[in-house]
Amino acid sequence: MIQAIRGTKDILPIEIGNWYFLENIFRNVSDSFGYQELRTPIFEKTEVFSRGIGDGTDIVNKEMYTFEDRGGESLTLRPEATAALVRSVIQNKLANTGTYQKFWYFGPFFRYERPQKGRFRQFHQFGAECLATEHPEADVEVILLANAIIKAAGITEYKLLINSLGNDASRANYRLALIDYLSAQKESLSEDSRNRLDINPLRVLDSKDNKDIEIVKNAPVLKDYLDEESKAHFDRVISLLDELEVKYEISPKLVRGLDYYSHTVFEFQSSALGAQDSFGGGGRYNKLFTELGGKETPSVGFAFGVERLLLILEELKLLPAQKPENDIYVVVAGEEAKNYGFKIAHLLRDKMYRVGIDLNNRSMKAQMRAANKVEATYALVIGEDELKSETVTIKNMKDSTQQTIPFSELNSFHFNLA
Ligand code: HAM
Repeated sequence: MIQAIRGTKDILPIEIGNWYFLENIFRNVSDSFGYQELRTPIFEKTEVFSRGIGDGTDIVNKEMYTFEDRGGESLTLRPEATAALVRSVIQNKLANTGTYQKFWYFGPFFRYERPQKGRFRQFHQFGAECLATEHPEADVEVILLANAIIKAAGITEYKLLINSLGNDASRANYRLALIDYLSAQKESLSEDSRNRLDINPLRVLDSKDNKDIEIVKNAPVLKDYLDEESKAHFDRVISLLDELEVKYEISPKLVRGLDYYSHTVFEFQSSALGAQDSFGGGGRYNKLFTELGGKETPSVGFAFGVERLLLILEELKLLPAQKPENDIYVVVAGEEAKNYGFKIAHLLRDKMYRVGIDLNNRSMKAQMRAANKVEATYALVIGEDELKSETVTIKNMKDSTQQTIPFSELNSFHFNLA
């Protein structure tokens, strides 16, 4: 038997209602905030991500699905959306409108990571990006959008962690101080962290290795290296969140795994998830447009891992009830009644009712069983009597009442499917 690729999953009909549930929330809440959907291709030129996300990151170094196409060009299955969206916005000149622009996206992404609970090689993200504004109010608005989505999904228990990476100058100063501190204890660091020390020292801060955690405890903190501009930006974000009574925790060691961030970074965590407890994250990226050849366009955004949102909903028993396959099931006796049944099914489907009819020439008894099995609210029965009198018997399967009406009245009959 041929198996699906490790770390990928089929989404089966039994689960699809859960996806629709979240997708509707993504669409409706984004719409209420004035965000518009933008869809980019699944693959891009590799440089979109290597330049955009940064050569020193795990994503670019170890996790990208990169291949040469038949024309010898290096292409990559998108590991995230932000760099691709920025490429699209530059190419389509969407940011040069003189005001900010707000976009959302939903779709599959690909990272070659070790699969485990909540971690896949093909996973889905919903994300939103607020482009062309440097103001801290935009940082707050994307956090509010994320919170509104979490709330609409019914999740109340979660943490919002927030930190500031400051502007480039602040971060460069901090980087030097951190390298100094860590280099003095290089021998005690994990191999991963030793490797990161020169390329991406900030990533050592969120190492999961116990020895690293001990060393990091006394490391210099970014907060102490923020200059006036960086402090003012972060203070405004925090004070507006306070004003709006948004709950958060300042997490001085939160740095995130992509190189494009500056100033505000944030992450959403849920204890319902286990080891992979982060179900979303984002932050401000003021230099990504110039990295990708565009004009300077300070921006901010975030993305949720949709599988992780679903795991939380499952764990907290918040998944919506399954919809039955059909609301109305047409039950017919014999060949002639079947023709009649198909006409009825057609008429009702035209009116957007969800209608089933037997396709296997089963007995009436078996058809009634099928109506029960799909949990239809109504069975429409056309037996010999009905056929003669051109009527149809409407059985309410929930309260076992029934009535017989002429075929001609079916068009205006009200089925109560609340
Ligand atoms: P990220 O933190 O790399 O950020 O990914 C966002 C979310 O995607 C994570 O919090 C996680 O829930 C989910 N995720 C990531 N990798 C996997 C995986 N292998 N399996 C399952 N879920 C996963 C970004 O991608 C940024 N582009 C977010 C952003 C948007 N920043 C600014 N704008």
